Amino acid sequence: MKLEDIVEFETPNIIEKAKKEGRKSLLEYEAKTICKEYGLPTTNFKIAKSEKEAKRIANEIGYPIVMKIVSPDILHKTDYGGVVLGIENEEQVENAYKRIIKNVKDKVPDARLEGVLIEEMAPKTAREVIIGGIEDKNFGHVIVFGLGGIWVEVLKDVSYRLVSILEEQDVRDMIKEIKGYKILTGIRGMKPVNEDMLIEMIMRTAKLLENHPEIKELDLNPVVLYENNAKILDARIIL
Ligand SMILES: Nc1ncnc2c1ncn2[C@@H]1O[C@H](COP(=O)(O)OP(=O)(O)OP(=O)(O)O)[C@@H](O)[C@H]1O
Ligand SMILES: [Mg+2]
Repeated sequence: MKLEDIVEFETPNIIEKAKKEGRKSLLEYEAKTICKEYGLPTTNFKIAKSEKEAKRIANEIGYPIVMKIVSPDILHKTDYGGVVLGIENEEQVENAYKRIIKNVKDKVPDARLEGVLIEEMAPKTAREVIIGGIEDKNFGHVIVFGLGGIWVEVLKDVSYRLVSILEEQDVRDMIKEIKGYKILTGIRGMKPVNEDMLIEMIMRTAKLLENHPEIKELDLNPVVLYENNAKILDARIIL
């Protein structure tokens, strides 16, 4: 697989819209929509603008679900009480909706609220990785891969490659390069993660970066890995 082989996608006008509104960062659902355009697997999601709509969408997606605040004024949703995991029924949807709005209004009274994101809740797994991108002043985009979730800050176990000269073999190498590689190949009877799937995800992310020089920072974290599929749980794009 080569970067050129990944089809050029007609990225929705999400980035243009954000720029026009003077925003430097995309909302989670916007970043995930772009990821989907590039064939990257994300959780299912939809925005609810009312409790009633939240319940309808939750039933449509199927329980358990996750609910998250949607506001251009809030980047770290958890810090503002804007994320509720493991919602099992309509009553909990209603409570979570009220709680999220209240938490955010208490902490940031003039935050603009677009609604609440309703997401499928991904099953737990021991494997969480990060796929990211940063901009180097001299060399352009750099793609980052490493152990994700809570581990990323503690272990700083990541590898880097330049996007402009990226080949499939480089991606293969960067996966093997992390200290925690064994976590991917399987320890204590865990089945190995499909490495080709992971390589394809990293290549597609690189393509996304290559097509969008305006992206200063991209952070798919956590990405949970199952044996033969994966899901991006949170996505951040800084312009
Ligand atoms: N759809 C989901 N299914 C399962 N777990 C989820 C889902 N979405 C989020 N989580 C869990 O909840 C955590 C917090 O959610 P999220 O990352 O969206 O909020 P955040 O405010 O950006 O957090 P942080 O600032 O720590 O990245 C995630 O790191 C993940 O462990
Ligand atoms: Mg997050």
